[in-house]
Amino acid sequence: MELNGCILTVVMLRDLERTPILSLDGVVLGRKVQGRLRRAAVRLSGVAPSVDQKWRRHLGRAFGEGLDEPRLKALGAMNPGDWFQRLAKGGLTEYLENVEYHARRLAKLDVAPGAALASIGEYEKALKSQLKQEFASDWESDESALSHLFFAVKLTLNDAYYQVRDLEATAFFAVLQDQLETLRVDDLLKRVLETLARTFRADAGAIVLRDSESDKLEVRAWRGMSAKLARCFSSEKKCGLAADISSTGKPRVVVDAGAEEARGLVGSAEIRNSFCSLWGVPLSVGGKVTGVVQLAFEREYLCLPREMKLFEAIAERCALAIDKAQLLEELHEREERIRRLGEHMMKVEEEERRRISRELHDEVGQSLLVVRLYLETVQSNLREDQPEVKAKVEAARTIAETTISEMRRLISALSPSVLADLGLPASIRQFVKNLGRTFPGEIQLNMSDVEELPAGPKIMMYRLVQECFSNAVKHSSANNVRVDLMRSNGSVEMRMRDDGVGFDLAEALRKRESFGLAGMRERVALLGGDIDIQSGPGKGTKVSIAIPV
Ligand SMILES: Nc1ncnc2c1ncn2[C@@H]1O[C@H](COP(=O)(O)OP(=O)(O)OP(=O)(O)O)[C@@H](O)[C@H]1O
Ligand SMILES: [Mg+2]
Repeated sequence: MELNGCILTVVMLRDLERTPILSLDGVVLGRKVQGRLRRAAVRLSGVAPSVDQKWRRHLGRAFGEGLDEPRLKALGAMNPGDWFQRLAKGGLTEYLENVEYHARRLAKLDVAPGAALASIGEYEKALKSQLKQEFASDWESDESALSHLFFAVKLTLNDAYYQVRDLEATAFFAVLQDQLETLRVDDLLKRVLETLARTFRADAGAIVLRDSESDKLEVRAWRGMSAKLARCFSSEKKCGLAADISSTGKPRVVVDAGAEEARGLVGSAEIRNSFCSLWGVPLSVGGKVTGVVQLAFEREYLCLPREMKLFEAIAERCALAIDKAQLLEELHEREERIRRLGEHMMKVEEEERRRISRELHDEVGQSLLVVRLYLETVQSNLREDQPEVKAKVEAARTIAETTISEMRRLISALSPSVLADLGLPASIRQFVKNLGRTFPGEIQLNMSDVEELPAGPKIMMYRLVQECFSNAVKHSSANNVRVDLMRSNGSVEMRMRDDGVGFDLAEALRKRESFGLAGMRERVALLGGDIDIQSGPGKGTKVSIAIPV
């Protein structure tokens, strides 16, 4: 099999994300090749050190200062030089597993795949030229075996890079999924921690958030440890890591929490006794640190550059999602408070109406009755020769009577006792009948299944029908008015339609002396219902209201 390093490199770079995972030992290297490779390895173990030196010199020229110790180590570990002894004895699988491990490290160390391939290619070139010089007689068989080996190495490298990128994409996707599926802050934090711990193989983790009232960082979610230990991760409890990250806004990694120099960052003995490495990144929104995510490892675990980048990117996304979820939660809480306040206000209003109607009835009503009685007594005691006085007293008595009946109407409107006595449908029927007397048009009233409503919606519906129907009678000049009241799917609905003159809603809402429509909208909103008013000059009016019950 003739392999050209350059072509292979190009193909592999292009296909980096597409190449399927291969069982290298079995698929690429057959038994015959493995045999040849073993024989070549025996010969090559002698020349490996000088090839290694050549390769390092080349890398120094190619990368200059850019290649630090961990990267150089990982690149070196992928070359077969150190492994010839073992390869000679057949440890090929072990070697390729080692290549895979170091290739994953290279990916996490953020070495471009092209650079890693170029470095391997360089080693291959150096090795073959040495081989040709020193073992010319076996050159052909050695060359072919090594080509196969390097092909396998490059495939392994490709596969390892793919695994790392795949893991990153999966982690990011999982975090997005967490955000889409979770609306409550605490649930979101828990799920994000799970995803992070899974991605980075952390043994435990904690998220601390800044409390808006106390401004302290308090632990809000944790995994893999007790609540007591989790509290040690907040800024208050001696773990300087959260405090440090929140003040600098920069990530921090403690590789060995037990080391003397780590004391400043990990003051808590509980943390030091339980974990070895700690990683932490800030959660920032608009340049302000709102919290810190910390991962803990029982064994020593370095955070490689690519891992830190992923950790930071996930934290960045999470910070926004947490902020959004917190705002939503606050909004819901505020809405709930307003709703409760509204409910309370409505109760107070009804209470006040009842109190006023009682006072009217007991005080003003009684006094008016007395006035009427007195007037009747005076009237009956008047002499016949006092016609003028008699007429005045008669007029006063009539005024007292109309005032009494007007007051009765007022009392009943203020506190519809009929509602408690007869229920909603009968009360509405009575109201519509009374007011309808002054309305020349046709009235249709349909009600179904609204007998058994809770007290709140019941009085509310009564008031809404009152206002809608009064408006139609007062303003619409309609020929037909229809009111439908029904219960459906957990709500009570009211629809009022008239074919009258209609009106401009925006203009009507601006009227300073009109409160009916605005009051209806407010009441419906407070009960978490919906109201829709459709009207226009000459188009009649439609009002639809639904209130949850
Ligand atoms: N069904 C209707 N047909 C025609 N115009 C209407 C109708 N309902 C309301 N309007 C118009 O909208 C205006 C505002 O109505 P709204 O109920 O807010 O106040 P109002 O009835 O004038 O006074 P009140 O505060 O006593 O209710 C009315 O003045 C009227 O011009
Ligand atoms: Mg009105």
